Amino acid sequence: MIPLVYDQVNTFGKDDAFFLSLLKEVNRKNLADLGCGTGRLTIHFAEAGFNITAIDPNREAIELAKTKQTSNQVEWIIGDSRDLKTNTHDVVIMTANVAQVFLTDVDWEQVTSDVFRSLKEGGYFIFDTRNPRDEVWKRWMEDKTPDVATHPQTGEGLEIWTEYGGMDDKQIFTFYESVKNIKSGEVIQREKLQLRFRSLQEVKVSLEKSGFSDVKCYGDWVLKEASEESSSFIFYGMKYRPF
Ligand SMILES: C[S@@+](CC[C@H](N)C(=O)[O-])C[C@H]1O[C@@H](n2cnc3c(N)ncnc32)[C@H](O)[C@@H]1O
Repeated sequence: MIPLVYDQVNTFGKDDAFFLSLLKEVNRKNLADLGCGTGRLTIHFAEAGFNITAIDPNREAIELAKTKQTSNQVEWIIGDSRDLKTNTHDVVIMTANVAQVFLTDVDWEQVTSDVFRSLKEGGYFIFDTRNPRDEVWKRWMEDKTPDVATHPQTGEGLEIWTEYGGMDDKQIFTFYESVKNIKSGEVIQREKLQLRFRSLQEVKVSLEKSGFSDVKCYGDWVLKEASEESSSFIFYGMKYRPF
């Protein structure tokens, strides 16, 4: 992610509205937003009344997030899942496909076990991830037009170009984003990004292995169980309540 332009090209959508409605439904107060990025959605959670710990390893993104005003306090942390406090949160949420940045099974297991550790009994882990069967990367690769944005400090026009490395046999898709100043033609930032695609069953099994029970999965931003054909999976797992 490139914090400089991220909020301009990722505006509030139906996925964000769905996450907000899910959170209101679980009616818990203490939330951790893991992989919060620029705080684009975190501030909406804060406005909805949640007490939030927001964590992301990207320093520039967190610095930008800190400049945003919210009526409810957010604790911003530069870090990762290892920084989640034990037995503390009612909900841990990861939005905008953060789950796909964990490329190896070892990294993903670390996250699911850290989240489990950080939840109070009866707490929820909520996140989205894209269905590999949908092969969305093929549609991305057909799109040859750049996104446009404005430099937040200078007001100059920017273009965001994407080059594609493609999908490998480990279900990891690689691409590169470049931010270019339209007037000068200069590339001012370039970043390599990789996303791992996991199947419905793969994610479900990994959550159960980490101790989550009552794992539900909604499909495509409606309160209906996901199918193997859904484009997006929205997982909803509970940390058991021992009897
Ligand atoms: C697509 S952005 C989503 C940001 C935000 N959740 C949103 O809804 O706009 C993915 C985020 O994952 C973060 N990320 C990358 N590696 C991470 C890690 N090991 N632990 C937590 N977050 C990570 C990136 O820095 C980036 O902010």
